Amino acid sequence: MHSGSALPTTHPLVDGRTAQSALVQAYQGVRPERRPIWMMRQAGRSLPEYRAVRAGIPMLESCLRPELVTEITLQPVYRHSVDAAIFFSDIVVPLKLAGVDVDIVAGVGPVMGSAVRTKADVERLRPLEAEALEPIVTAVGMLTAELAATPLIGFAGAPFTLASYLIEGRPSRDYVHTKAMMRDDPEAWEALLTWAAGVTGTFLRAQAMAGASAVQLFDSWAGALTHDEYQAFAAPYSTSVMAAVSDLPVPRVHFGTRTRDLLVAMRDVGATVMGVDQHTPLDVANDLLGGRTPLQGNIDPDLLAADWDVLADHTRDVLRRGLAAPAHVVNLGHGVPKDADPDVLTRLVALVHEEG
Ligand code: CP3
Repeated sequence: MHSGSALPTTHPLVDGRTAQSALVQAYQGVRPERRPIWMMRQAGRSLPEYRAVRAGIPMLESCLRPELVTEITLQPVYRHSVDAAIFFSDIVVPLKLAGVDVDIVAGVGPVMGSAVRTKADVERLRPLEAEALEPIVTAVGMLTAELAATPLIGFAGAPFTLASYLIEGRPSRDYVHTKAMMRDDPEAWEALLTWAAGVTGTFLRAQAMAGASAVQLFDSWAGALTHDEYQAFAAPYSTSVMAAVSDLPVPRVHFGTRTRDLLVAMRDVGATVMGVDQHTPLDVANDLLGGRTPLQGNIDPDLLAADWDVLADHTRDVLRRGLAAPAHVVNLGHGVPKDADPDVLTRLVALVHEEG
């Protein structure tokens, strides 16, 4: 796996630090002795130490300060003993670094200075220059120096999800403008998604080259598309993002919510592992995928607030169903809610380590 790899010889996957880790093994379809677990949004508002270091610093600014990114990324690794760190950043960071007027408003999400609605709007978008990624590359380097045998997961947003933020201008429930551009202005759509694929692929590759041992592509809103719409209007661009890292020996996870009908199509854009949300049991997902794709998921985040026995029984059910797949990385079905009790998260990780 290492010969001919374009990764630097000092990369944790190449120099031996993370290649035998439970996470990387499971992502490669080998069942490790102990089932690995990490949680989407494990860093963030559920942790008091996060709220303390973020106080007074806007979200996107915090993502561009390498020392702060390093500290925040490591907080849940130390507190919960999870089997991976996920890079603290956001899917809109590469848009910001390409010069897009975007802000993350607390309690709302990404908000654009002006929505991208026409071909002329798309033509004003600039490419992402490699130099702009300097804070990202620096932070990944600082992290891999601290993490030793614990792998760092890099991530990016898929072109469809990014385009939906750019077109709607803010988080949306119905994607009216997105679906209108998709249907009525194929030239603008193609130009916008091609631009988004370039920007987000560059961001993902930079993290992999700088030391991430796996990458995850988030297409959070793909579930708003039918299978045919996904194939026509999203898959070609996600294929190009996966291709931006497919020459590297780095596992490629793909995740979205409410994607039962899209799992095969999302795997076939070039993913090597599928993330599954809590709406599809893992054994069902495994059958849909033909039994050959390692899975990640899918503890229901809503049950973090339930009685411990309910959460523990549900987790055992997830572990049992995960045995159907070639290998299984335990995660939540979506991100940690901001009001989750951190002690419950620590206890959940311990349960998976004992029983997984
Ligand atoms: O710990 C981790 O998982 C890594 C960090 C991470 C963040 N965003 C940090 C963040 C990751 C992987 C993301 C991805 C992301 N960002 C997605 C895909 C994953 C998903 O949840 O479906 C999406 C859709 C976004 C866009 C976005 N950014 C939203 C919807 C929000 C929430 C807005 C809010 O305040 O409720 C953000 C902000 C954001 N990104 C926060 C964090 C920790 C909260 C900001 C804060 O701390 O004030």
